[in-house]
Amino acid sequence: MKSTQDVYILGIESSCDETAASVVKNGREILSNVVLSQIDIHKLYGGVVPEIASRNHVEAIDKVVSQALSDANVTLKDLNAVAVTYGAGLVGALLVGVSYAKGLCQASGLPLIAVNHIEGHICANYLTYPNLEPPYLCLLTSGGHTAIVNVLNYDDYDVICSTVDDAVGEAFDKVARVLGLPYPGGPQVDKLSKQGVPKYKFHSVIVSNGNFSYSGLKTAVINLVHNAEQKGETLNNADVASSFTVTAIDGLIDRLRQIIQTQSVKTVAIAGGVGANSYLRQQVKQFEQDGITVCMPALSLCGDNGAMIASRGYYMYLKKEFADLSLNACPTLKLRGQRPV
Ligand code: KG4
Ligand code: ZN
Repeated sequence: MKSTQDVYILGIESSCDETAASVVKNGREILSNVVLSQIDIHKLYGGVVPEIASRNHVEAIDKVVSQALSDANVTLKDLNAVAVTYGAGLVGALLVGVSYAKGLCQASGLPLIAVNHIEGHICANYLTYPNLEPPYLCLLTSGGHTAIVNVLNYDDYDVICSTVDDAVGEAFDKVARVLGLPYPGGPQVDKLSKQGVPKYKFHSVIVSNGNFSYSGLKTAVINLVHNAEQKGETLNNADVASSFTVTAIDGLIDRLRQIIQTQSVKTVAIAGGVGANSYLRQQVKQFEQDGITVCMPALSLCGDNGAMIASRGYYMYLKKEFADLSLNACPTLKLRGQRPV
């Protein structure tokens, strides 16, 4: 039975190719976490087809939310608020979650909370580490974002550096494609790279002002593969995957190390889909040898899910940061504190 002191938030996520909903208690305890992936549908096209994603969200969202409520053994009456991702992401996909959440709030009288997807990814750490509190340094790596962020408190962030072009996840997906691996490419490149050695050397992804650039690395890998094809040579794809992975991740780790050396950092966390990468996790873990606490969300919470949205929603609920029914999707939403690069 629900206690009146506890806060129950329903989190809804539909920014890309996962229709997801979850009920989270007090921002930290997952009572249910339903994620319906559209991977098998988009695999046929080699990537996410926005209109197909929206249509599938429309079909799935009611079932997914109902399942999340029943798995958590709660009804709408037990909830304190509905939190929904309103950006960044695919506009048509976001609009499905936003419209559904607005309807639910209109019908139930529950407050509506508009969550930034990226802030949600950061909050996945609170679900894995119930005692984690800001400040900490967070390496944010997803399909759309790459940044190192000082998480100052639950609401404020200072983006120290970020990508000037492609996101690291995007580079993983493009490299996967050129190696003939199926969508989504990141996990496939991860798997393949374990069978190879990093024998090809590419330029660092760190650019002169301390930000990252992934488009050059992506092009270098594509050129390597195409040149070999033109010469009729056969490359060992596992070696290519391994060389790419090491370059893509080492730049992030080197930059983290530089920042740790210049600031008094006690805790490092990671967030976003690429946070599931085994080499990245192994490298970040090494900071423990320097006495740093390392937080890595459970693998199931690195990718898109409703629980991270509910967790972020909880901290906004505490500050009564509610949205009204004019809420719209914001496909290019930035993290608060993001500077132009
Ligand atoms: O955070 P996310 O689920 O969605 C966005 O907000 O973008 O991140 C998806 C990205 C994709 O580019 C996917 O290929 C990548 O995360 N990814 C990985 C791994 N698992 C997912 N990249 C490298 N290694 C992985 N194991
Ligand atoms: Zn995401």
